[in-house]
Amino acid sequence: MASDHAPGLIPVPDRRQPVEAVVNVASVSQRSPFRYPGGKTWLVPRIRQWMAAQSPLPQLLVEPFVGGGIVSLTAVFEGYVDQAVLVELDPDVHAVWAVATSPEHKALSERILEFTVTREAVLAELASEPRTVLDRAFKTILKNRMFHGGILAPGASLIKSGEQGRGLLSRWYPQTLARRLQAIGEIRDRLTVVCGDGMTVIEQYAQARNTLFFIDPPYTAAGKRAGRRLYRYHDLDHERLFAVTAQVQGDFLMTYDYAVGVCALAQAQGFDMACVPMKNTHHAQVTELLIGRSLAWLDP
Ligand SMILES: C[S@@+](CC[C@H](N)C(=O)[O-])C[C@H]1O[C@@H](n2cnc3c(N)ncnc32)[C@H](O)[C@@H]1O
Repeated sequence: MASDHAPGLIPVPDRRQPVEAVVNVASVSQRSPFRYPGGKTWLVPRIRQWMAAQSPLPQLLVEPFVGGGIVSLTAVFEGYVDQAVLVELDPDVHAVWAVATSPEHKALSERILEFTVTREAVLAELASEPRTVLDRAFKTILKNRMFHGGILAPGASLIKSGEQGRGLLSRWYPQTLARRLQAIGEIRDRLTVVCGDGMTVIEQYAQARNTLFFIDPPYTAAGKRAGRRLYRYHDLDHERLFAVTAQVQGDFLMTYDYAVGVCALAQAQGFDMACVPMKNTHHAQVTELLIGRSLAWLDP
């Protein structure tokens, strides 16, 4: 069946009926220390399907645009892969992953547990210049919790603080964050964190076998898409990303906003495509495009 979202030029199979049954977001453990804009928690049931369909079993997952990292965390915690490589260009986001996977994760948890939320304390912390990676990680987590939509990019704003800072307090779950950091700390020898360009890292692992690539890049087609507003780093040569991805020996899964230009890039590489529905933060149903070498695993 062709998607009703397809503009007619490139018919994209619409998998929403067959796969609807397997999507149960309640089955997804919230393991990330972030609430990430554009986060793919909702897609995890399908990502499990993709990973489970691999033969031979993959050893490694490379996530070149890691953001909140729910896919890497799920893959390692649930035993789909032994190891994951998490790549992030934004130094603030990277700092959280670097600390979470170092012995300092305990100190970060302590800072979180000891922090008393008041409007003054939040503003003072956000105005401070981080001196260490730990400072930077703490500030990023605080900002991610306290800013509208978890957005860390320039232009984002603090939520209303309400009476006696209660609005801010309602966003702060110190015990939950500490528990997640503790759990990540326990598997940290299975996570490699890289601060840098995801495309370069895909190239580095291109010849590796038994390696999966989950590719969820920032996307800003026609200047109106969310990427520009959501992420500090949003400029990417998508044509090059598709060309680099075509070279990998392992299997890959890409996810994009549905857009004609993206379909054309995928088609030029002979990739398989499928539209899947998702609800955005305003609960409107939007269409997400999955791209892979073969998406046969989506069919029941
Ligand atoms: C769509 S988000 C990823 C969301 C993630 N899949 C999740 O579930 O939270 C894209 C991420 O790529 C990062 N990024 C942008 N350009 C990058 C680059 N060249 N290399 C690595 N990361 C990059 C952004 O900072 C952002 O965190």
